[in-house]
Amino acid sequence: MKRILVTGGAGYIGSHTTLELLDAGYDVIVVDNLSRGHRKTVDPKRLREADLLDTEALTRIMKEEPVEAVIHFAAYIAVGESMKDPGLYFRNNVAGSISLMNAMQAAGVNKIVFSSTAAVYGMPAVIPIRETEPYAPINAYGETKVMIEKVLTWFDQCVGFRSVCLRYFNASGADPAARTGEDHEPETHLIPLLFQAVKTGKPATLFGRDYPTPDGTCIRDYIHVSDLARAHIGAVEWLLKGGESKRFNVGTGSGYSVKEVVEAVERVTGKPVPHTYGPRREGDPPLLVANSTALQNELNWTPRDSALERIVETAWRWYNR
Ligand SMILES: NC(=O)c1ccc[n+]([C@@H]2O[C@H](COP(=O)([O-])OP(=O)(O)OC[C@H]3O[C@@H](n4cnc5c(N)ncnc54)[C@H](O)[C@@H]3O)[C@@H](O)[C@H]2O)c1
Repeated sequence: MKRILVTGGAGYIGSHTTLELLDAGYDVIVVDNLSRGHRKTVDPKRLREADLLDTEALTRIMKEEPVEAVIHFAAYIAVGESMKDPGLYFRNNVAGSISLMNAMQAAGVNKIVFSSTAAVYGMPAVIPIRETEPYAPINAYGETKVMIEKVLTWFDQCVGFRSVCLRYFNASGADPAARTGEDHEPETHLIPLLFQAVKTGKPATLFGRDYPTPDGTCIRDYIHVSDLARAHIGAVEWLLKGGESKRFNVGTGSGYSVKEVVEAVERVTGKPVPHTYGPRREGDPPLLVANSTALQNELNWTPRDSALERIVETAWRWYNR
């Protein structure tokens, strides 16, 4: 049985991908420091509690339990926080990732799937966005991901690391069997915030209704977390077969507006979503949609669960678990 190390496996996307790996017949160990994740989302047998910055601990873990590859989710993810405290982000996301790569080198592991993001593109000129669009991040969080993509290129060239960088668009939804779901603290993602508004009656603030889009609200490419998890299995399999380093967008190629998401939440929950409109947020482009044909063609991946209704239904089921 092939063993994979998942960093950040106590978090949202990492916990789904761990379940998907187990379902696909892999053995999994999880490294997480539980700074932002949840102990209860990881089988205690699999959890190795450690910080990315502790190179020695990571090396020891991979030497004691050899792994074929690493899927690296562990990071801080809040754009706003990254602009208030960039040092925290560069240390955790950049220094932490380099520490992990050093440990991999020491343990003789040279395959890694890296969680990147649409934020590497900033305000892209061409939509749908292709992987060939230039790096142009507009926040410190996005810059941390650009930096690690670049470091991975040098590790490929200099020491034979093979990597797949997956640039996710808006991860959403939850495990259809409600075994795990989205639970960030603080929560900044739209769908769970709308659920909170439904539950508490406190209005959600939606940012901007004067964008040049059909209903005036921002359009984003929502990708179901189970589809994302399957993209990681495809990426690991690609690397295990000896595939070269790649960078792929992971999205559906079509977007939904904030207003359409509110309406879907109202349909699924059967309740009105209390909400108000605030001003636009700085650095929020009107439209962000991925071109994911490279991932579809090269890794034979297709989104199966990313219809908006399915995303909201699975997320709501988990929210009410
Ligand atoms: N959620 C999204 O929409 C989205 C979009 C694009 C990219 N991403 C990327 O996907 C990855 C996972 O995102 P998520 O939403 O699951 O986040 P999350 O916060 O739910 O999970 C991250 C996990 O990493 C752990 N972690 C953080 N720093 C660590 C460290 N130094 N050492 C050990 N563990 C550490 C946290 O405790 C947490 O369990 C991140 O790299 C993020 O940048 C997420």
